[in-house]
Amino acid sequence: MNHRILELLEQQSGAYLSGELLSQELQISRTAIWKQIKKLEEAGYQIEASRRLGYRLTGKPDRLSPQELTLKLQSKEVTLIKSIRCFDSVDSTQNIAQRLAEDGAPEGTLIVAEQQTSGRGRLGRKWVSPSGKGVYMSFILRPGMPLHFAPQLTLLTAVALCRALRSVAAPLDIGIKWPNDLLIGGKKISGILLESTAEEERLRYVIAGIGISVNLTADDFPPELHDIATSLRNELGKPLDRSEIVASFFDQFEQLYEVYQREGFAPIKMLWEALSVTLHKPTRLFLASGETIATPIGLNEQGALLARKSDGTIVPIFSSEQVPPAG
Ligand code: BTN
Repeated sequence: MNHRILELLEQQSGAYLSGELLSQELQISRTAIWKQIKKLEEAGYQIEASRRLGYRLTGKPDRLSPQELTLKLQSKEVTLIKSIRCFDSVDSTQNIAQRLAEDGAPEGTLIVAEQQTSGRGRLGRKWVSPSGKGVYMSFILRPGMPLHFAPQLTLLTAVALCRALRSVAAPLDIGIKWPNDLLIGGKKISGILLESTAEEERLRYVIAGIGISVNLTADDFPPELHDIATSLRNELGKPLDRSEIVASFFDQFEQLYEVYQREGFAPIKMLWEALSVTLHKPTRLFLASGETIATPIGLNEQGALLARKSDGTIVPIFSSEQVPPAG
C-alpha cells in the first residue's frame, strides 16, 4: 500500500499531490491515506503536508529498506527478486542467506545489511563493511545446473555489476579484474563472492554475495588498504544513492541471467572480455603449479582465464588461483 503512495509521490519530483487524488488512485479514504503517510514518516521519509495542496516528498532516509528497494526494482521491471530482508547489522549476509537457502527459501531471496561485523571476501579475506556506507548483500539463486557452471555465474555477476556501476557512476572508468573484482584506476571498489552447494554434482543453490564501497571515505578503510581500495564517492566526489545501485545491478543481472539461460556462456564471455582490465598485460600469476609470468588473452568456454606463458604455451587459470592487480 505505502509502496504505491511512495511511487506516486516520487513521480511528482517534489511537487504536491492532493490527498483527493491519492485516495482515488488507491481506492481508500483520505484518513487511510494520512495513516499511511504517517507510517512512511516513521520509516524516515520526509513528507510535507498541506491542507490545500496535499502531500509532497522532501527527503528520503539514507537506508536500504524493503520499501525503497521494492519501489526501485519495480520501476526497472525487475522480477527476479521475490523477497527482501534488510538488517541493521549482521555478521555476514552470506550466512543469513545460506541459512534461508537451507530452509528452502526460493531463488530471488535477497538479504541486505547496513553493516557487517564479519563480512568476508574471497580467499579468506575480510570485507570492510562500515554502517550505512556501502552495499552489502547476498541473494539466492537456484539455477539447477551442473556444479562446473558456477564459475560462469561468477563472471556473469561481475559483468552485471560492472555495467550497473558504469551507468550509476558515469563517467568513472570501471573495469573487471579477473575473476570478479571491480577496479577504478587499479583500486578495488567492489567484490563478489559466490558460494555454492551441490548434490551429486548439481548445484542445489548459489549464494551470490556482493560488496560495493559506495560512500566510504578514506578513513573508513584500514591503512593497509589505502593504496589498493577506494569508493565510488571518493572517485566521483559526491555520495551516491545505494538503493539505485542495488536496483541497477539487478536490472543488469536479470537481463544477463536470461541471456545466459537462453544462449549459454558465449555472449557473457564476450562482455566480460570487453570490460576486463586483466587481458593483454604480462603479469605475475600464482598458479597451483607455482608462480609464473604470463599474458592473459581471454576466457575459455568454461570460464577459465587463458594465459600465454613466455614459451608460447597457453594455460587455463581457475578462479581459485590468483592474479595480482593490473597496474
Ligand atoms: C571479494 O572481493 O573478495 C569478495 C567480497 C564479497 C563481499 C560481500 S559483502 C556481502 C556478502 N557478505 C559477505 O560476508 N561477503 C559478501
